[in-house]
Amino acid sequence: MKYWIRHLRAVDSTQNHLRRLLDRGATPPHGMVILTDKQTRGRGRHNRRWLSPPGGLYFSLLLYANRAGAPGPSEALSPEILPLLPLAIGAAAAEALDPRGESILIKWPNDLAARNRKLGGILVESDTRAAIAGVGINIEPVPLSSAISLAELFPGRTFEKRILLSKILDRFSHFLEEGPGAVTQSVNKRLYGRGVEAVHEGKTGFVREVLPNGALRLEGKNGDSCDIISGEIFPRDWKGGNLPEEAECGPREALDVERSIETVEEKGAERR
Ligand code: BTN
Repeated sequence: MKYWIRHLRAVDSTQNHLRRLLDRGATPPHGMVILTDKQTRGRGRHNRRWLSPPGGLYFSLLLYANRAGAPGPSEALSPEILPLLPLAIGAAAAEALDPRGESILIKWPNDLAARNRKLGGILVESDTRAAIAGVGINIEPVPLSSAISLAELFPGRTFEKRILLSKILDRFSHFLEEGPGAVTQSVNKRLYGRGVEAVHEGKTGFVREVLPNGALRLEGKNGDSCDIISGEIFPRDWKGGNLPEEAECGPREALDVERSIETVEEKGAERR
């Protein structure tokens, strides 16, 4: 797949920038990437702030969800990859940054983890026309005890943003070509917390694997399992978040709490 990269010195949020283009009736190409050196209003999942000082990799990728809304005749994401988008981007980033898979893991469904801390996050926002996949990765240290950076993980190495970006996009193209099986296989190789007890929406279970549909299987002490499709998990050794209240994982159940892809409801709210 082809990518068009626009590099901005600063922006409020690369997500907002792409969203504004769409809302103004522009037809940015499938594969348009907004890369920036810093964001003044970087956003994370659940409306959290995403600290975005210079020294991080921040970009958003536009992907049309169907051909009807796309500018070109054959430009759109295949429907089967859409629900796996956060995992596909996460796997692409993990493989690009750490090809040997020694340090960087994927914390289901949207985080990059290393040394039990957060190295990066992925925010996918979609409506019926398009998905905007935003990626934030700490290159230099950030002043948060829950965070880790590439500089701390790989001392002595230098990281050039454009090169990191192009490696991530290359790996993402590979997953688009190979399809969903390659995504889940890669995620399972680098799944954070495997075998560790984790809390999800008040229930606990041991992290087992990611299923072909992108759900995460947790298994209770009694052997029962829950397949979860959304929300966040907190493995016991995770040092990046507060543990909520918990109960034992019950008979097999699928909890539908919140999609890992956030839906965009409000359009054109912000103008620069
Ligand atoms: C999360 O972990 O909650 C997701 C963080 C996503 C941050 C990236 S940085 C580039 C893009 N622009 C934003 O405002 N957010 C995403």
